Amino acid sequence: MKTITQKVRDRVLRTLLPPPFETDHWEYSGVSLMETQDVPCKDLISLALQAAECATSIDISEISGRMPKRDRYCEIWPGQHYKLLAGLLAILRPHLVIEIGTYSGLSTLTLRQYLPPDGRLVTFDIIPWDRIPGTIFKQSDFDNEALKQTIADLSQSSIVKEHADLLRQADFIFVDAAKDGKMEWRLLNNFKAIGLKEGALLCFDEIRLWNMLAVWKSIPYPKMDVTSLGHYTGTGLVLIDR
Ligand SMILES: C[S@@+](CC[C@H](N)C(=O)[O-])C[C@H]1O[C@@H](n2cnc3c(N)ncnc32)[C@H](O)[C@@H]1O
Repeated sequence: MKTITQKVRDRVLRTLLPPPFETDHWEYSGVSLMETQDVPCKDLISLALQAAECATSIDISEISGRMPKRDRYCEIWPGQHYKLLAGLLAILRPHLVIEIGTYSGLSTLTLRQYLPPDGRLVTFDIIPWDRIPGTIFKQSDFDNEALKQTIADLSQSSIVKEHADLLRQADFIFVDAAKDGKMEWRLLNNFKAIGLKEGALLCFDEIRLWNMLAVWKSIPYPKMDVTSLGHYTGTGLVLIDR
């Protein structure tokens, strides 16, 4: 959700620097020098390639089928990140997946579908799923232990401490929350304070949005921008290596 300042900034930019082609969705971003410390490690390159290969044969039709026909954008790949998320889970087979930003359920249900048989997914949001207009969840999605929603604001350090034991066990964390230029900074600081599991993989959505550029650049772990294999607004992978 954009703040009023961001909306004003976008309006001014659109006047001064209008999109150079017709499109239904346009965001301002930027490019910068790829420095030595930004070059991804071999493990991340290999994982991204394997996940992309896997994504070519991922079937999320049960999930997209819950959307009206005109809105089945989650099937677009590359361009959308859902099939890449599924591919990552199929390769990594994580026991515990954490999602930050449930919203209407598209990524949650994709992650759940590709959990290993003993896997568990806890999805965090500040708004309960049944208060989101157009949610694609059914009550029965939460009937077994594999999926749970927790209502909590993980930008608050005290809240992250409350959930520290769970977060430290996570093998895969998908971060798709506010992107307001504040929340993700706080989240990363909170993760640093509790310490995540070594070897955990974080996947950040929309890293190429203006508000996310500096956050992404600042992440001090091995990382890889996999936008061309994921979401057109940016997808980034981060490996917690210490
Ligand atoms: C872009 S939507 C998530 C979309 C979803 N992951 C998908 O792909 O279908 C962002 C969500 O993040 C939630 N959010 C915003 N700030 C948050 C916070 N501090 N902690 C947890 N969730 C937050 C919003 O309520 C919203 O539902």
